[in-house]
Amino acid sequence: MKTAKHKTTVGVIDTDVLAYTAGRDVELDRNLITADCVGTAAHVTMLARMPEKCRVLSTADAKKVITTLVTILKQARAGKFKITLDDQDVHLAVERHLTAQLGDLGKKVHTCRSRNDQVAVDLRLFAKEELLSVLAEIASLSGVLSDFARRHATIPMVGRTHMQPAMPSSVGLWADAHAAALLDDAALVLAAYQLNDQCPLGAAASYGVPLPIDRQLVSDLLGFSHPVGNVLHAINSRGKLESVILGALTHVMLSLSRLAQDLMLFTMPEFGYFELPAAFCTGSSIMPQKKNPDVLELVRSRAARVTACQTAVLDIVRSAPSGYNRDLQDAKEPFMEGLAMTRATLRILTPLIADMEINADALVTAFSADVFATDHALELVAGGMPFRDAYHHVKAHLDELENMDPFTAVTKKTHLGAPAGLDFDATTARIVAIAELVSAERAEFHAALSKLLGIAWPLNR
Ligand code: ARG
Repeated sequence: MKTAKHKTTVGVIDTDVLAYTAGRDVELDRNLITADCVGTAAHVTMLARMPEKCRVLSTADAKKVITTLVTILKQARAGKFKITLDDQDVHLAVERHLTAQLGDLGKKVHTCRSRNDQVAVDLRLFAKEELLSVLAEIASLSGVLSDFARRHATIPMVGRTHMQPAMPSSVGLWADAHAAALLDDAALVLAAYQLNDQCPLGAAASYGVPLPIDRQLVSDLLGFSHPVGNVLHAINSRGKLESVILGALTHVMLSLSRLAQDLMLFTMPEFGYFELPAAFCTGSSIMPQKKNPDVLELVRSRAARVTACQTAVLDIVRSAPSGYNRDLQDAKEPFMEGLAMTRATLRILTPLIADMEINADALVTAFSADVFATDHALELVAGGMPFRDAYHHVKAHLDELENMDPFTAVTKKTHLGAPAGLDFDATTARIVAIAELVSAERAEFHAALSKLLGIAWPLNR
């Protein structure tokens, strides 16, 4: 059978095979152009500093390559850098461009490097920037949740278990709990960030190269905390790292899905505790009166999708043996999708919470006498009755139960972490610590890239 052939930088390939193997790389790798150029800049800087007998580039050559890389970065910023199917991926697109501009010098750039370690460093550089944004977005959303908690700290709210009325609680406790969940998730994201912050370059195909490259230098130039200590592990950690990151994001999304679920319940007209800002509701094409919480419903489904992204990556990794395997390329799409969905969800919920109103009357009238049953039993305990006797006494007289003032009931819960014992300042301190960490890490990373590229970084700011 005669089939169409395609000429690529690395040989002639059947057109269908090319399309199948490139998969969605031609589009997805647009997210990696910046990282690919930056990684290449560090690589050539290192090549120019190799021992003289094996040096393939001079310092002036490295400068020329970097200048051309900066042009690519600017073109990419303007949406003008194209990755074609013939390129297969961003790595060969950048090499094609460098060779077109610089001739033989462009052809030397791939010395001591493989696309395998190149894509690994690209993904880590991409993830570094993304995870800092995730952390910043978590800080913003937990910030508005914590503000909401402070603003409505003393407003009573029926606490529920099994979704049934349980005990007196407060709007402050509810909102602060959601902030606390996100702050715990941030610790997972940070752990993923730290694992990610290691430089895989120099692994080449998976086993290193027979020339004295300086992996520490490349790692320092790129602002990584250190190089991955084992080159085979540097390649094997691809996919696993993405799934660790997606695992942390799955937890962020679980927290957000619960928040969305609560909000849908508490904004139902039958509850009416909170009112969603009109701008975050959508109408119906047939029912003129509708104000639907579509945003919150999609938060719920996106949480399912981020979990699915992690599952996809886990399953890809599960069957991959040591060394580079092309399967790993397919982890790219769920990885990028999971990051994008989590970030978009954090961003949409922040103004929604910031602008959400409460209906104090509805919150207070929702209290029925039975919500105070346990408080009554504990009053009897304070008078000396053993708890189990008090429990049975209240249970036997449930229809005579007296209503208490919900405001007073809430103020009585003063122990640590209870409605009247919340340490809002501690929550704020955790949020500030995340925001400060993000600023410091970003500043250090961007300073390294500015120095490497010889321009102000990030571009156009
Ligand atoms: N696009 C490829 C990926 O994402 C780059 C590495 C290709 N390496 C190879 N040996 N075919 O994995």
